[in-house]
Parts: sequence; structure tokens; C-alpha cells
Amino acid sequence: MSAAATNDDFVQPTSFAFSEANLAEAKKHIAKYPKGRQASAVMPLLWLAQYQEGWVSRVAMDVIAEMLEMAPIRVYEVATFYTMYNLKPVGKHLVQICRTTPCWLRGSDGLTEMCKKKLGVDLHGTSADGKFTIMEVECLGACVNAPMVQINDDFYEDLTPETLAKVLDELAAGRQPKIGPQVDRLNSAPEGGMTTLKDVAKGAGQ
Ligand code: FES
Repeated sequence: MSAAATNDDFVQPTSFAFSEANLAEAKKHIAKYPKGRQASAVMPLLWLAQYQEGWVSRVAMDVIAEMLEMAPIRVYEVATFYTMYNLKPVGKHLVQICRTTPCWLRGSDGLTEMCKKKLGVDLHGTSADGKFTIMEVECLGACVNAPMVQINDDFYEDLTPETLAKVLDELAAGRQPKIGPQVDRLNSAPEGGMTTLKDVAKGAGQ
């Protein structure tokens, strides 16, 4: 893939509106809180806006502030504090590379380097074709399958630079790669199959 720069050159949109379905969902979140406490719904509403647009624009935060009767600055404070909110556009596939200790010990640096080289970007950059944005994140809770990455909603685990490169190739070609472990194991079971309790009948003890 050809080289790309960062994706810092972008224009903030001038309008934002939740889709009908997301507006209904937003109202459900707001209804969970007593009158006067609507601000408690700020995080799920930011998340819904991001899910809809891929990122959270300034105007989306302003719309949310109005819906929740909050000062816009209080919404900006939340959105800029949590790294899960993207404050600039991202590629079609957001590749979040876990770099916390178990993944780091098992080779996450190699995954990051491969992604940078293959996609021609630095961390937080988007490939020239707009398909991929890469970033490093802290533990995603799948340490037993380290090293791993999250791409959009899916985990890809037990990776090497080579197997992650294949996953990226599949996604770039518009195909869905196998989700989960990229080695011969079921979820977090031992590689190659069971090593204990082999003679326990399936379902025994239930
Ligand atoms: S350290 Fe990577 S998933 Fe926990």
C-alpha cells in the first residue's frame, strides 16, 4: 500500500444529527437517569455518535451537550479524557494494537512495526486509501491470547506480524478474516487441543 501522511488535515463538519435508530437508543440511555441528572448519559451518547460517524466531531459534542442540558465544555472534557473516543476521522478499519505487558512480552512491538511499514503510517495515522488507522492501546482483556489487536468490533489473537499482515490483506480485499486466535486453538484452550480432562464426557457434571 502506498505511503500516507497523518490524518490531521480534516475539516470539522458543521452539522450532526443522530439517525432515527440512534436517537431512540440515546433517549433510552437518558431515561435511565432521574430528571436533572441527564448528564450521566454523556458517555453512551458520545459512544453512539462515534459508532454512527466513526469519530466524535465538535458539532456532535455540541448536539449532545444540548440534549443533556450540559455546558459544551463539560462534554469536551469527557471526550478528551477517554482515549476510546476518536476526535478525528479514522479509517474504515480501526486497528488497535494492545501494547500492555503480556502483549508486549509476546511481541506487540513487532505488530506495530509491521503495521507502520505495511500501511505507510505512523501511530494514529490513516493509510492513503482510507482503509486503516492504527493506534496502540492498553490491555484489551484478552491477555491469555497475547499478542492481540482489536479491529473495529473484533479481536484477532495469538498474532505474529505475518498472521496480522494476512488479516489486513483480507480486510483490504473486502473479505472477513477469521476472528479470534490465529493459531490452532479454540478460544483460550491449549494450542493443538485439550491436554487435560480428555476422558471427561462432554457435558459431564452439568
Ligand atoms: S495485555 Fe494485551 S490483552 Fe491484556
